[in-house]
Amino acid sequence: MEKRENFGGRLSVILAMAGSAIGLGNIWRFPYVAGEQGGGAFIIVYILASFILALPIFFSETIIGRRSGSNAVGAMKKMAPGTRWKWIGIMTVISPMIVLSYYSVVGGWSVEYLFKALAFDFTGVPSDSISGFFSRFISSTWEPVLAHTIFIALTAGIILGGVKKGIEKFSKLTMPILFLLIVVIAVYSICLPGARGGVDYLLKPDFSKISAGTIASAMGQAFFSLSLGVGTILTYGSYIRKQENLMVSGVGTAVADISFAILAGFAIMPAVFAAGIQPGAGPGLVFETLPFIFNKMGARIPWISAVVAIIFFLTILVAALTSAISMFEVGVAYLMEEKGKSRKKATLQVGLFCWVIGLLCSLSFGPLSGVHIFGKSIFDFLDSLCSNWLMPLGGLMFTLFVGWKMSRSDVEDEFTNHRKLNRRGFPLVYFLIRYIAPVGIVIVFLSNLLL
Ligand code: PHE
Repeated sequence: MEKRENFGGRLSVILAMAGSAIGLGNIWRFPYVAGEQGGGAFIIVYILASFILALPIFFSETIIGRRSGSNAVGAMKKMAPGTRWKWIGIMTVISPMIVLSYYSVVGGWSVEYLFKALAFDFTGVPSDSISGFFSRFISSTWEPVLAHTIFIALTAGIILGGVKKGIEKFSKLTMPILFLLIVVIAVYSICLPGARGGVDYLLKPDFSKISAGTIASAMGQAFFSLSLGVGTILTYGSYIRKQENLMVSGVGTAVADISFAILAGFAIMPAVFAAGIQPGAGPGLVFETLPFIFNKMGARIPWISAVVAIIFFLTILVAALTSAISMFEVGVAYLMEEKGKSRKKATLQVGLFCWVIGLLCSLSFGPLSGVHIFGKSIFDFLDSLCSNWLMPLGGLMFTLFVGWKMSRSDVEDEFTNHRKLNRRGFPLVYFLIRYIAPVGIVIVFLSNLLL
């Protein structure tokens, strides 16, 4: 079997984890959800949910991962031998591969849009050539499939490099650039004439919009955004060296993730308002609305908006890639360690699986749009299966495992590096893991059932 690798120092851990956390969830999902759900008021609830509910799950996963030094299935086999916990491991190996399958379809869209931006297709053109492009593109057969294929291939290419030379190197190189790029776009966006409305929209808390549903969607957003419940943080956690501080890794990742989401909001919403477009554009915001905005801005100084468009879609692509590798690695670590496969073979198998399921998801916008599962298209069905059910279930199980199955002293040993660090914070973290996070997840479940 190939030797197990580890991440380098503290910064490498945080950048790799932040790479997993920061993705389409921040750039594509957060701005419109925040906008729809009460702006600043939603953001406050989201930040609270990230720290009180999501972070304890994050800690649970890193505790299991680092203590076992194994992939998700191996961890359960080692720490609870001969029990049904193994099935939780299996579930959390399969679910990220399903998430990756449809995630890479959207990742593929960003590949296509980057090409278009590079070809200056979004600037200085008649607006009817842009309108309808998105729906024409996603419902066609070959183009989105090709884009999805490119995205999976890029992901696989990074994974082939291994933990240190692939995942760590790529995250370390791209994450600082990503922050820089999003700040550049946010500043540009805020400086546009008429941008004020967008800033108000994001920040002015409208508490009248806060309801049980808002709280559930804030939790769901925090969950998805921190990559929880699908074994990715567990697997990355297994690459954290024994001397690192788990509290610092978790808090650092959460702060990076939240800041990036808010920056993405500032990159997008002011531009939307400046262009006089209704912010309720929903999930189509990034891919349908923004090209219009780039084009409109380009009417005055075309090359600036062309450059902004390129930077913007490049940012989305890179952010999506650093998340995609974290999902990919879960399956690869499992195949390598449990099935004795080489990294190459494991990468090929995971890639093929995700490519095939992703193919169906991609086609479900076009030729397969008539196929419905529980009244939903294949893409929507898999998305709701994972986001609403498998992810919270995985998260719940990880907190129950750490809070109730492991002994308190084992948990304390792992979290405090044998009582050297974080000794004062531990009782609070343990309380959150044992009681608060599981109750929060059950509330998400119930609201998914009832709302
Ligand atoms: N957190 C990633 C995002 O915000 C998505 C993700 C989910 C990544 C689950 C890994 C696992 O886009």
